[in-house]
Amino acid sequence: MNKERIFSGMQPSGRFHLGNYMGALGNWVKLQHDYECIFSIVDLHALTSSYADTSQLQENIREMAIDWLSAGLDPEKNIIFVQSHVKEHAELAMLLGMITPLSWLERVPTYKDKIQNLSTQGKDLRTYGFLGYPVLMAADIILYKATRVPVGEDQSAHLELTREMVRRFNYIYNKEVFPEPQAVYSNAKVLPGIDGRKMSKSYDNTIPFGASPEEVEARIKMMITDPQRIKKIDKGNPDICIVYQFQKVFNTSEVEDIERKCRAGEIGCMQCKKILAEKMNVLLADIHLRREELSRKPNYIREVLEHGEKRARVIAEKNMAEIKAAMNVF
Ligand code: AMP
Ligand code: TRP
Repeated sequence: MNKERIFSGMQPSGRFHLGNYMGALGNWVKLQHDYECIFSIVDLHALTSSYADTSQLQENIREMAIDWLSAGLDPEKNIIFVQSHVKEHAELAMLLGMITPLSWLERVPTYKDKIQNLSTQGKDLRTYGFLGYPVLMAADIILYKATRVPVGEDQSAHLELTREMVRRFNYIYNKEVFPEPQAVYSNAKVLPGIDGRKMSKSYDNTIPFGASPEEVEARIKMMITDPQRIKKIDKGNPDICIVYQFQKVFNTSEVEDIERKCRAGEIGCMQCKKILAEKMNVLLADIHLRREELSRKPNYIREVLEHGEKRARVIAEKNMAEIKAAMNVF
């Protein structure tokens, strides 16, 4: 098999939403056909910021596995596993830590921001683990010698740092052990939430991934349209309407027609919302059913993750031996 290898991960940090799917997971589902893919539920990364309350961690891991499978990630085609189950991630992060200049980590643009932001949620992130977040991420990727990494653009600094670490490792130990990985950005735009801000768990404006058709309808009903429009025959302004934003994403075939009718006062907001709900449910109703079905099969989920872990370990052990040999660590 000569396909390029992809590695990507997601933190199991609570209920997954449609924005996560549109921005990341949906892209993975497409990539699985053309690449050899390794996808990891990165629980150690979740611990870097949520170390103080781990009571939901196992539940979140299981839910994330269910989300991935119900979105259509194939557990045979891809390697799907939990990061902490393959000890080499921690081991390589430790070894890479030896060659990582502190200044590189302190310079990561999101580092100081995030410490500030999350301290408002009562999280103290002035920890060794949080500073080392990018080192652990670099370890994830290069442990498998992955060459492509699908991530959101917010991760570009981490990817750049990974490449710098690869160059530094190869230079210091005078061996081309690792290839330099490249980011693969999806062309999906940021999905707004039902209030028009970025869809995000912290704004409480999400449509949960795997929502039932009734939930989807209820969330759409809450979306604000053009507030100037009182009667159906009033001319609407789609530019300020959240439902229109969603039509553009989920109803590409009809959006132009809807826009014209809205501006002309020929379609009411209720009907527009109904059309949107139907379109979204073509995608989401299936996912909802698969999610329900998988939720009833905890043993199957466990088996999938164990199977992935075994396959990941085969690659990780082999590469780890090579890495340690280059460093004269036996
Ligand atoms: P987060 O849970 O915010 O860390 O995001 C996990 C992944 O989902 C990242 O790749 C994000 O880029 C993506 N993502 C999160 N929220 C949205 C959104 N509203 N629209 C598009 N992508 C998103
Ligand atoms: N930092 C990534 C994010 O927040 C998650 C992640 C951890 C990751 N390890 C990775 C992504 C390795 C790609 C490759 O989205």
